[in-house]
Amino acid sequence: MTSLLLNACTEAASMTTAASATPMDLDQELLAQGEKKSCFSVSAAAENNVAVAQTCLTETQRTVPTTQLHKETTLDISIRNNKLNAEESSAESRGAGADQKVSTVVSNPDFNDKIDYSLATSYWKTIPATVNGMLGGFARISTTDINGSNTLLKWIFSQEVHPGRGRCVDCGAGIGRITQRLLQRNFGKVDLVEQSPEFVAKAKEVFANNSKIGEIHCIGLQDFVPKSATYDVVWMQWVLGYLRDDDLVAFFRRMSNSLKPNGVIVVKENFSSDADDSSAEVIHDEADSSVTRPMALFLQLTSKAGLTLVRLVQQKKFPRQLFKVYMLVLKPEKKDNSRTP
Ligand SMILES: C[S@@+](CC[C@H](N)C(=O)[O-])C[C@H]1O[C@@H](n2cnc3c(N)ncnc32)[C@H](O)[C@@H]1O
Repeated sequence: MTSLLLNACTEAASMTTAASATPMDLDQELLAQGEKKSCFSVSAAAENNVAVAQTCLTETQRTVPTTQLHKETTLDISIRNNKLNAEESSAESRGAGADQKVSTVVSNPDFNDKIDYSLATSYWKTIPATVNGMLGGFARISTTDINGSNTLLKWIFSQEVHPGRGRCVDCGAGIGRITQRLLQRNFGKVDLVEQSPEFVAKAKEVFANNSKIGEIHCIGLQDFVPKSATYDVVWMQWVLGYLRDDDLVAFFRRMSNSLKPNGVIVVKENFSSDADDSSAEVIHDEADSSVTRPMALFLQLTSKAGLTLVRLVQQKKFPRQLFKVYMLVLKPEKKDNSRTP
């Protein structure tokens, strides 16, 4: 997921496991990946971070003033601290192979023209159907990721008004990493939506005879039309960077319509800036035709789709060279019925 979880140093590492990818429980695969971690060219500092992360997950929880959520942001191309991510990504990419393309910072709205769904499809055809493949070579962050998400889910269910635990959908599910380790443990039924036939095949193999798994849709999110009032929670993780702005807004609207009463949408994505940073660096990754959006732009899009931000939490304890990852809980704006005759 190059620009998603970053980059490609690790594709070489991914490939080392691809050859031996026999049917295996995803947890088992993760353990196996741990043994191969010397393949990953990450810094010692990052290694330490991850070691700490295995035992000590902490999160920064923030409240974002409403004014910041809806303000119009002038999108320019001021390159600040986050360019570091792009540069590091590029360096890793170069290390991975001579023909690896690099990340670039592009200005809005041009980046939408750079998102090509067929290129993304081609990219994912080259990636093994493993946890390591799903995480751009960072299989070892999966446990930290799942723990952070689990904490957020607990918070969601602890609220006075909270969604039910009936049905959830995992959007851009890949091979079902999140469904297996998180969603099926929290919901009666989980549907999956994933564009790659290979990853869907792997998910069907992993979840064969698992009564918690509902429908598995092999389709791009830009084309997915869910039934209305179906889901308690819609989970979208490390996939929205593949959608153009207009498709993303339309997708949010359709998924919003698919929510049951008190249902929420959870987004977990990379961001090129924080919520209180009005910079507008959209980082384009040519390798997989994805973008990493700044928070301000992302919140404009959720607002345009009629969604309200309920919670914003940063995932901590990821390796430093990765983009910042935030979890957002969104719910449909209350409809104003006061003007209805
Ligand atoms: C980085 S992986 C993340 C998979 C999973 N969400 C996880 O965290 O393990 C990105 C996934 O998004 C899928 N994907 C990319 N573009 C997509 C699209 N337009 N619609 C649906 N899935 C897409 C890829 O095939 C891949 O499985």
